[in-house]
Amino acid sequence: MTSSDNTSNRTPKSGSTTGAGAPAPSDRNSLSVGANGPILLHDVHFLEQMAHFNREKVPERQPHAKGAGAFGVLEISEDVSAYTKAALFRKGAKTDMLARFSTVAGESGSPDTWRDVRGFSLKFYTDEGNYDLVGNNTPVFFLRDPMKFPHFIRSQKRLPDSGLRDNHMQWDFWTSNPETAHQVTYVMGERGLPRTWRHMNGYGSHTYMWINAAGEKFWVKYHFHTGQGMAFFNNAEAAEMAGQDADFHRRDLFDAIARGEHPSWTLSVQVMPYADAKSYRFNPFDLTKTWSHKDYPLIKVGTMTLNRNPENFFAQIEQAAFSPGNTVPGIGLSPDKMLLGRAFAYADAQRNRIGTNFHQLPVNQPKVPVSTYLFDGQMAYHHSGNAPVYAPNSGGRGWADDTGPVADGWETDGEMVRSAYTLHAEDDDFGQPGTLVREVWNDAQRAQFVDQVAGSLLGGVRSPVLERAFEYWKNVDPATGQQIEDKVRAGSAPEPAEGMGEG
Ligand code: HEM
Repeated sequence: MTSSDNTSNRTPKSGSTTGAGAPAPSDRNSLSVGANGPILLHDVHFLEQMAHFNREKVPERQPHAKGAGAFGVLEISEDVSAYTKAALFRKGAKTDMLARFSTVAGESGSPDTWRDVRGFSLKFYTDEGNYDLVGNNTPVFFLRDPMKFPHFIRSQKRLPDSGLRDNHMQWDFWTSNPETAHQVTYVMGERGLPRTWRHMNGYGSHTYMWINAAGEKFWVKYHFHTGQGMAFFNNAEAAEMAGQDADFHRRDLFDAIARGEHPSWTLSVQVMPYADAKSYRFNPFDLTKTWSHKDYPLIKVGTMTLNRNPENFFAQIEQAAFSPGNTVPGIGLSPDKMLLGRAFAYADAQRNRIGTNFHQLPVNQPKVPVSTYLFDGQMAYHHSGNAPVYAPNSGGRGWADDTGPVADGWETDGEMVRSAYTLHAEDDDFGQPGTLVREVWNDAQRAQFVDQVAGSLLGGVRSPVLERAFEYWKNVDPATGQQIEDKVRAGSAPEPAEGMGEG
């Protein structure tokens, strides 16, 4: 006699297998002594199911846990060989790629429409190895020294006792570190709530180096301008959407691509001659600053189009590993201390998050042959047989042997110190955010910004952080700062959106 569990009219079509490939006995009945008896320890198939289930999650990214992505292509329409020899930027080149978009502070199940910076990660599978550009939807960042990064991220996440996010903690960090002002201005403005990932720009944010075939070096900043036009949510729309569909941005991208609407972005760069860096009015390696487009106008490079959804979210998105340390010939890092800190951090996070051999997973594998002196470790899949495991060797296995000045290096000297960057002529923390508020934004954008900041401050920010926040914004722009203070004192700002500045 069969139990009701077995009366389903769904008949298995072709069965399933165990992990070892043998026919699985049953995916719905465990082995027991009689229909009502205890289950048996030698039901290997059942044990395998249980044990593997207990291990099927990997740690979420810390930070940028919530995100999604798609595959696509980068096509180069312009000749930028004067600046870089990188094969992926050669006119006419088409390079397969993967993009992942994300929020920064929220956990993997958090709403897509909470106010935050958005990640804009790109992996290009080039003919010279993988090139990763791991940027954001804003051209600047909160900090300029990587030592502060873990402190910053913790201040934006959750309180140690209640496990709640906390405006007071966020503003305490921001106002104690005035270099955050430019990025906080962006986040409290409309860019903090992009309507969809398709409707936002992306930026490399840091300054990178380009090197041409003659060995000449340039400093570059990457800009990806959305072909869909910029569009934003207001606070009320974002809050409603957070409740209605926490995965709104993930769904929007997936559905658009499935419908055949392939979002695209125009790639342009700002190029600074190598020697200008010393005397440019802003420190060009300070990640809290932009370069004026009048000084260094945009130069078009090509177009990025996303045209293929992942077939498996875990394998192709969750296990994707992006790192600013992954560069290719013709592209280098720069003296930006944040970038240099990041060059280490990502691969280390990935060894912890996905495993020692994360680079062997299909989504992370380069499309070119690999001959690396990285061996073994957990889950090693590719191997080099009996080839020598040391260099130099007499067994015919190649090894790298660059000597002398490096192609993507720069000059530096001085004693070892712990110190902020040397200031350039116009460097200060409040000048560029002041310009953004006064000269780039219109009245409506300024009004929305004042409401958002005041609403956030009213959401539990206490003395002395509150007074520091008024001072912070008066330093950015006296009139705007005063309006924020007046609104907070009157207690009259509308509810801010969740996320950064949640009430
Ligand atoms: C010193 C500063 C920074 C450190 C130490 C740092 C570290 C990290 C780490 C450890 C991860 C998780 C990586 C993983 O598990 O795969 C991550 C993710 C990410 N970070 Fe940073 N980060 C820094 C600054 C930045 C900046 C300045 C940007 C953008 C301009 C940025 C953009 C991202 C993005 C987009 C992701 C998600 C990557 C993905 O989609 O898989 N980070 N960061």
